[in-house]
Amino acid sequence: MTQTINLVEVGPRDGLQNEKQAIDVADKIELIERLARAGMKTIEGGAFVSPKWVPQMAASDEVMAKIDRANGVSYPVLTPNMKGYEGARAAKADTVAVFGAASESFSRRNINCSIEESLERFRPVIEAAKQDGVRVRGYVSCVLGCPYEGKISPAQVVPVAVALYEMGCYEISLGDTIGVGTPHETRALIKAVAQEIPVTAIAGHFHDTYGQALANIWTAIEENVATFDCSVSGLGGCPYAKGASGNVASEDVVYSLERSGLKTGADLDALIETSLWISEKLGRKPGSKVTLAKTA
Ligand code: HMG
Ligand code: MG
Repeated sequence: MTQTINLVEVGPRDGLQNEKQAIDVADKIELIERLARAGMKTIEGGAFVSPKWVPQMAASDEVMAKIDRANGVSYPVLTPNMKGYEGARAAKADTVAVFGAASESFSRRNINCSIEESLERFRPVIEAAKQDGVRVRGYVSCVLGCPYEGKISPAQVVPVAVALYEMGCYEISLGDTIGVGTPHETRALIKAVAQEIPVTAIAGHFHDTYGQALANIWTAIEENVATFDCSVSGLGGCPYAKGASGNVASEDVVYSLERSGLKTGADLDALIETSLWISEKLGRKPGSKVTLAKTA
């Protein structure tokens, strides 16, 4: 049987949240709709966070209200607390994501509270979502390194991942927020987390700052992880992790996996077109090697 890999397209959220320039709501909507037409089955549509903290995500309610939702496609949004959850519910989000960290300093800078406080804030969100039949994804940031604390060990990641899983998150996305981790470290991390929660509930979220993301994805696949986050054209970074580049480019992941005989359900040509389109809107060259190579 051909192995299927699930891709979570995070470009419209993780990608665009970091843009300094204003992006029209119409363009955000078109990006999401193009990604759905390119076969992406999970597309992060936005974030219900404080507009003072992340101005670019301020119109997430409008985006979610106006997108033409494709059958069989899920559009998760980030919700750091109950206020965010209420916004997401009003916008008819089918899936929400809470986001914690393995590093205390990053937790403070990103969501203004300690790791423990963050888990207490997530608990009512997850409870309310259970009542409403909304699925909750859990993120853990800084799993291989922190912009403020340096190296992070698997022992710091495991308790946060376990707490989110036990509270009811269906999937835990392990984020190398600043893209410093190597395959060797990725293997140790996945082994440690998979000892405590089912490997089927683990996703990889690799930023490509140091060019390690694809190698880390392949290592995680060898450890039986089958879900990965990616960002069309390699868009993005994190506003609270200076210098972090975008998530691994969706086109590069699809090219590498499909050419190796794995199935992603994505249409590479349509992704490349989307990558070129959004790059033109943002006034820069695509951040995907595959897109650059195929359009040279
Ligand atoms: P706070 O200031 O501690 O919140 O921020 P507060 O509860 O004290 O409220 C202060 C103000 O914010 C109030 O408004 C609230 O109403 C408002 P005011 O009375 O001053 O006018 N507020 C909100 N507004 C809209 N939506 C909300 C909300 N909550 C409070 N949900 C808070 C705490 C979490 C809100 C803030 O720190 C925040 O919004 N942080 C978001 C940071 C963020 O979005 N970071 C990027 C996403 S994470 C990421 O990129 C990593 C990831 O990709 C994985 C990886 O790569 O590792 C996921
Ligand atoms: Mg990220």
